[in-house]
Amino acid sequence: MRKYRIALLSGDGIGPEIVAEARKVLDAVSSEAEFEWLEAPFGAQAYFDTGRSFPDETKQICDEADAILKGPVGLSKEETERIPVDERPERGAALPLRRRYDTFANYRPVILPPSRAHFSPLKAAIVGDGIDILILRELVGGLYFGAKERGVDDSGNRFVNETLEYDEQQMARIMHVAFGEARKRRGLVHNIHKSNVMLSSVLWNEVLDEVAAAYPDVALKHMLVDAATTALCLDPGQFDVMVMENMFGDILSDLGGGLIGSLGLMPSACVGPEKAYYEPSHGSAPDIAGQSIANPYAMIGSMAMMLEISFGLGAEAAAVWSAMDAVLEEGYATPDLASGVEGMTALATAAFGDEVVKRLRAGG
Ligand code: NAD
Ligand code: IPM
Ligand code: MN
Repeated sequence: MRKYRIALLSGDGIGPEIVAEARKVLDAVSSEAEFEWLEAPFGAQAYFDTGRSFPDETKQICDEADAILKGPVGLSKEETERIPVDERPERGAALPLRRRYDTFANYRPVILPPSRAHFSPLKAAIVGDGIDILILRELVGGLYFGAKERGVDDSGNRFVNETLEYDEQQMARIMHVAFGEARKRRGLVHNIHKSNVMLSSVLWNEVLDEVAAAYPDVALKHMLVDAATTALCLDPGQFDVMVMENMFGDILSDLGGGLIGSLGLMPSACVGPEKAYYEPSHGSAPDIAGQSIANPYAMIGSMAMMLEISFGLGAEAAAVWSAMDAVLEEGYATPDLASGVEGMTALATAAFGDEVVKRLRAGG
């Protein structure tokens, strides 16, 4: 029997609450495979406990694991300021994790079936046949990882320099993922860029044309990133796969959460050449942490993406998705989706997980 070792990083804020649900759901999945959990400290709490937000012990556990399941990290602005800048969990843990495993391909699906149109702030006529977009965000280049300096000039003026760095190979590899995924879907890639201003986008578009030549069967459209934000709101149904650099992808994927009704519906996969890690697109939601109202859908969905992408367990992943979707469709959801919606029953975080488990057991 194949056994998979999963490094489990609970993170901060709502992290432990939603990670517990993902673990509970996987433990209820019926599978020939076995799963072993390797818990490890990561994030702000890890810093307070050990002095490091990505401790060496955690690096070793992640190195040895077959995949990594990660809750969000981070604290409120005020709490974050208790931690030295370089150890703050985003800079000191999340980005080093991405760099360590070169997780360049960030899959951020934005999905709203027509049956869930009532979750969206968009008019029913705009939701139309539903939203099914795969945002592919380059995750280890650009402004996030370029050289940075901060200083004071001769006249006492504080300045900062942050560099947007990419090379053509870094660009090409995420584009190949985008075309490959489009082939499995509706065969359309939207290239999201800003070549009217950014030199990085000029090179990006040149590389894209070269890569696209290998995929004549996939349609390619180009859209400036500012126009794309409006297009996502007014006609999301036109998009299939969208590919973009790191910072554009950070922002547009959160817009995606808005379109479908909650960031709590945005799972993600961060895939590298040898290892992948899985986390929701959203953050640690300090405003609702500890209240048992966080939506665990994105966290459980990220776990399902792990089953499929890292372990090749497509049937198990599909069972998790259909159990979760059944819960929503039968009118149960956490308050981010259920509050004030007629016919919906609001559930606590753990109760949502219990409903998913119940349907998984009934189905398998
Ligand atoms: P956020 O995504 O944590 O929250 C934005 C809003 O969405 C809040 O109102 C929050 O309550 C709500 N929300 C988010 N996830 C939810 C869920 N699962 N269920 C219900 N509501 C949910 O963004 P923020 O407040 O800007 O950031 C908080 C912290 O998270 C910051 O420290 C930030 O750096 C960090 N962060 C971490 C990650 C990560 O670890 N991958 C991602 C994004 C932000
Ligand atoms: C995300 C987050 C991260 C990012 C932070 C926490 C480093 O916002 O995963 O979207 O900006 O990439
Ligand atoms: Mn983000």
